[in-house]
Amino acid sequence: MPSTVLVGAQWGDEGKGKITDLISRDFDYVVRYQGGNNAGHTVIHGDKKLALHLIPSGVMYESITPVIGNGVVVDPHVLTDEMAKLEAQGISCERLVISCDAHVIMPYHIDLDGAEEKRLGKNEIGTTRRGIGPCYQDKAARTGIRIQDLLDEHIFRQKLETALAFKNPVLEKIYGLPIYTVDQICEEYLPYAEIIRPHMAETAQLLNNALAQGRNILFEGAQATLLDIDHGTYPFVTSSSCCAGGACIGTGVGPKAIDRIIGISKAYITRVGSGPFPTELHDKDGETLCQAGGEFGVTTGRRRRTGWFDAVIARYAADCNSLTDMALTKLDVLSEFDTVKVCVAYESGGRRYDYFPMQQTVLYPDHVRPVFEELPGWKGQDITGCRSFEELPQNAQNYVEYLEEKVGVHMSIIAVGPDRDQTIFRGWK
Ligand code: GDP
Ligand code: IMO
Ligand code: MG
Repeated sequence: MPSTVLVGAQWGDEGKGKITDLISRDFDYVVRYQGGNNAGHTVIHGDKKLALHLIPSGVMYESITPVIGNGVVVDPHVLTDEMAKLEAQGISCERLVISCDAHVIMPYHIDLDGAEEKRLGKNEIGTTRRGIGPCYQDKAARTGIRIQDLLDEHIFRQKLETALAFKNPVLEKIYGLPIYTVDQICEEYLPYAEIIRPHMAETAQLLNNALAQGRNILFEGAQATLLDIDHGTYPFVTSSSCCAGGACIGTGVGPKAIDRIIGISKAYITRVGSGPFPTELHDKDGETLCQAGGEFGVTTGRRRRTGWFDAVIARYAADCNSLTDMALTKLDVLSEFDTVKVCVAYESGGRRYDYFPMQQTVLYPDHVRPVFEELPGWKGQDITGCRSFEELPQNAQNYVEYLEEKVGVHMSIIAVGPDRDQTIFRGWK
């Protein structure tokens, strides 16, 4: 299997964890390249269910080296906790490698994330409040603390002092929050450093050497195209480069090393948090999607907003990521409906948009009207046992082929249930 990026083609939670786990046995390395523990990736096999936030979903296979790349932001408390939980389930984390250049989420990042959301009030982004945005802010401002700093007490104390000289007045004077001392943070963070130390590496060099030796890398995206800091529905986005291009930035591997880019989409669409969502449903169909799809966040438990498949977004994701093929997940959830709808364009301000509009105002709920095509469904037919495309009801096959035609990308994986085995490979090479 050539080196491959798996990238969310919607607003997240498309089933990246399942697909990563499904195909990762063909790879030598599985690498997270951006985001942090705002991600919640579910992996289910038999009676084993994992909800991973930071550690790559390939961790279940002994033959794989899981890597946390330089583009990831790491909360050491969450990381060490996740490692301990996996070990307790008999899944070894010994092979885990963590970039020395990854930035560290500090306690004040988490406080500032929550405080800023509170300040925004009804205009909040609806972040996961895990400190992601404030940590990337410090990275861009060149005042961040990296994994390598954490491992040298002298440097860690120095950088912390500089950071707190600015963070404490902001916490106290702007948000009315408690402040931190260097000793207080050192007491909490330095023990984490000892757990992380054996896993730290120059991951860019490690991965480039691996490629030179003909090894294969799977890059596991977190969040998704529409949450990308540049290409998403800004400002209702996360603070990293989720798109396929981010795989290079977040690992130190060049674009020519990547051969295949698989976009993951649900057979409908969901979003958690605030921001525009043209096909959002507020009716009983939306509720049916939520209940049948179990649409509650893995990280925050929040109810996900639901809507019909948006082919405009899918085409946009195909372009932004140079998708070579797609994985369509949760097709089984649509067995609840007499008919299924697909958004093929938007109408807004008297204009038709076939391409994702750059101007956010076009997408405002009171401006935008999705143009739907309605297709016959396969209500009541349980497709979770189907293992070939031909076994699917004719209308389900037609639905997939219709999406392919509208998006212009081959759908090589169809997921019909959460388990690793509940999957159809279609023209998979
Ligand atoms: P991720 O963040 O993209 O990894 O996705 P999440 O794990 O947050 O959410 C996807 C949810 O859908 C998880 O609960 C998965 O177990 C589940 N899931 C994945 N594929 C399928 C599928 O084909 N059918 C059903 N019913 N559930 C699925
Ligand atoms: P996975 O990898 C869905 C959303 C938040 C919020 C916005 C910014 O499981 O698909 P942040 O905490 O990142 O600053 O929040 O992004 N968000 C996600 N939505 N799935 C995720 O990850 C998400 N990670 C962040 O809800 O709207
Ligand atoms: Mg998720």
